[in-house]
Amino acid sequence: MIKIGMIGAGGWGKNLLRSFYYLPGVEVAMLADLVPERREEARHRYPGIETTDDYRRFLDSDDIQAVVVATPGASHYAIARECLAAGKDVFVEKPMTIHAGEAEELARLADDKKLILMAGHLMLYNPSVRKLKAELEAGALGDLYYLYFQRLNLGKIRKSENAMWTFAPHDISIARYLVGSPALAVAAWGESYVQPGVADVAFVRIRFPGNVIAHIHVSWLDPHKVRRVTLVGSRKMMVFDDMDAAEPIRVYDKGVPADLSYDTFGEYLNLRSGDIHIPWVKSAEPLRLECAHFIDCVRDRSRPLSDGWNGAEVVKILEAAQMSMESGGDMIEL
Ligand SMILES: NC(=O)c1ccc[n+]([C@@H]2O[C@H](COP(=O)([O-])OP(=O)(O)OC[C@H]3O[C@@H](n4cnc5c(N)ncnc54)[C@H](O)[C@@H]3O)[C@@H](O)[C@H]2O)c1
Repeated sequence: MIKIGMIGAGGWGKNLLRSFYYLPGVEVAMLADLVPERREEARHRYPGIETTDDYRRFLDSDDIQAVVVATPGASHYAIARECLAAGKDVFVEKPMTIHAGEAEELARLADDKKLILMAGHLMLYNPSVRKLKAELEAGALGDLYYLYFQRLNLGKIRKSENAMWTFAPHDISIARYLVGSPALAVAAWGESYVQPGVADVAFVRIRFPGNVIAHIHVSWLDPHKVRRVTLVGSRKMMVFDDMDAAEPIRVYDKGVPADLSYDTFGEYLNLRSGDIHIPWVKSAEPLRLECAHFIDCVRDRSRPLSDGWNGAEVVKILEAAQMSMESGGDMIEL
């Protein structure tokens, strides 16, 4: 039995709490939250959980091996550092920190102390994202040309974090995972309409090696709820629609033949438009898979897919994108 402590049972933390609570081989021994009602609700829903307003109580406990941090992003660095310093394995929600240097320090500390540090990049545990990766690796698309992401909705509008820091960690982590190489440069544009200084919409462009480009559009001020990833390759194209639970992925046999000639009347007829294939994707809750992966890593002492360095890479891109947004869209080399 692996005993864990949790810090933060707010909007998202309560989902993590439920997921870890029902995971076999795990005991959520203690929950820390600053809000008494949240502690009371947790005690009511999950019998046996001890609650506190001071997470330092479990740092002294030899029984608690790992800590899950689901507090707002600005507090992640200080809390995770304390937990690692106390010898605990740590899961930190995204964004891992709000400064890349801090995230790298955490990753280094975890390595030095041989502790597990995992960033909560939920989408990497989504079976559809795994399927996209498998199709890419199998060469289904040919060479990957470019990819773009739409993560749009109306609400929940945050005060302390803009829409890019809230949503784009998901898409940046997917882009990095699918492309398989570190980003080279990033540029971003965004604007604040509802609250001064808190961007409601952002357009982020990332350049990867091999001329691969990614474009990310995030907004909490949009008429549509959209969660979509589109990949365009030399042979085929692929779309992942996270709002379509039954058929999330479509592979389009569309493209441009290598021998395309531009000097004939029927040039556009040479474009290839063939079958649409809907691959089967295992139905499983990504959050449960993510939590199970963390526990497996704690048990086996193995490196998480979204380890501290992966979390730090995403923060580095976000930090540069923020700098670019503030400069009016300059391309920042990473
Ligand atoms: N993976 C996802 O899909 C996803 C979705 C939403 C949010 N998140 C992330 O989860 C994290 C939390 O977001 P949220 O929406 O739950 O925030 P929230 O503000 O709703 O909840 C944060 C909770 O942390 C508690 N807290 C803050 N500081 C604390 C401390 N020092 N000790 C104990 N408790 C403390 C607060 O009392 C609150 O209950 C953020 O990093 C956010 O980006 C991830």
